[in-house]
Amino acid sequence: MVREMVVMNPFHIYIPTSVHFGEGQLQELPNIIKRYMGTKVQLVTDQGLVKAGVIERVAAQLNTAGFQVDVYDGVEPDPGIDTVDRVVEAFNEAESDLLLAVGGGSSIDAAKGARLIISQGGNIRDYSGINAKPIREASNIPVIAMPTTAGTGSEVTFFGVYSDWENNVKVTVTSPFLAPNAAVVDPSLTYSVPPHVTAASGIDVLAHAVEAYLSRASSPFSETLALRAIELVGANLRKAVFYGEDRMARNYMSEASLLAGIAFNHSFLGLTHAIAAAISGHAHVPHGIAIGLMLPAVMNYNLPVDADKFLRIGQALSGSPVYNPDETVELVQTLTRDIGIPQRLSDVGVTKDMLEGIARQTLESVQLRFNPRPATERDVFEIVNAMF
Ligand SMILES: [Fe+2]
Repeated sequence: MVREMVVMNPFHIYIPTSVHFGEGQLQELPNIIKRYMGTKVQLVTDQGLVKAGVIERVAAQLNTAGFQVDVYDGVEPDPGIDTVDRVVEAFNEAESDLLLAVGGGSSIDAAKGARLIISQGGNIRDYSGINAKPIREASNIPVIAMPTTAGTGSEVTFFGVYSDWENNVKVTVTSPFLAPNAAVVDPSLTYSVPPHVTAASGIDVLAHAVEAYLSRASSPFSETLALRAIELVGANLRKAVFYGEDRMARNYMSEASLLAGIAFNHSFLGLTHAIAAAISGHAHVPHGIAIGLMLPAVMNYNLPVDADKFLRIGQALSGSPVYNPDETVELVQTLTRDIGIPQRLSDVGVTKDMLEGIARQTLESVQLRFNPRPATERDVFEIVNAMF
């Protein structure tokens, strides 16, 4: 609910996903699947994880436990709408009865979208936008998500994001009924993630937490989770990028991703995600890169609205008191620079003639409603133009 002139937002807490967190949880996967009565597992993943041998390990473990496993490994980064259709085809052909996503947000979103299409028909586009078809609760197909990056929080979120490559736009589907039934978060799956992916997914975690915290729909519940996630990112993201073998840092980043995901389920996001979706749609920039690039600029735009909140973000991020809200923006800017996030839109393939279209499309985003400071198309153009 958007903040009105009341003392405190009314709030509602809903966490439909059963979360199993901790190093070694992968071993529990067969027992977790058994709880959902699945016997024929449709594994949804990407080719990188197949090449790394992760999928073979997971499939062997499930085969030993008596499950039939069919692997769909065609999920690409920022998955297209067609990819969802191909997962649906694979599921139907193999006569599977459960979806297991192993991968980053792309594979998890593909599985979440596939369940929607299998149980309610149509195409992903039908469930997005102003005239979106309503999403019903009932589906007898369980979705289990096993994230291999610390980033999107998709293992617990009510969102699925898909690329409509025909129209160069991102399509977002939103419903609590999109959330996976179970999330198996085993941080050991993130230990071999390379630095540039760790950086892009980690800065996305920070953006989820910051936007959830500043959101017009924030509540004491979402703010508490968001601040803890910011604290964890501040203390661990650099370590996870530079010393990937630091297991504690990896564990804390997985925790941060999870908490930030639960936080933004309850408060939505804001202008950084609205602009980043438009940038990704126009120039095919990976989500985390577009987010990391825009986060400091959008924070700077939002700063006049609530200086106190900025001080608390700065304190959580740095672990020491911050007395000037500008410092918080500088802390975030320095973090993005340190971990190698590009600093200009022109560095990531955005051209000057795209800026107006990006600004126009940003205004269509649902996330914009939740940004603490209203923004017109002109405001957004000025923000992206300054970052060009
Ligand atoms: Fe994100």
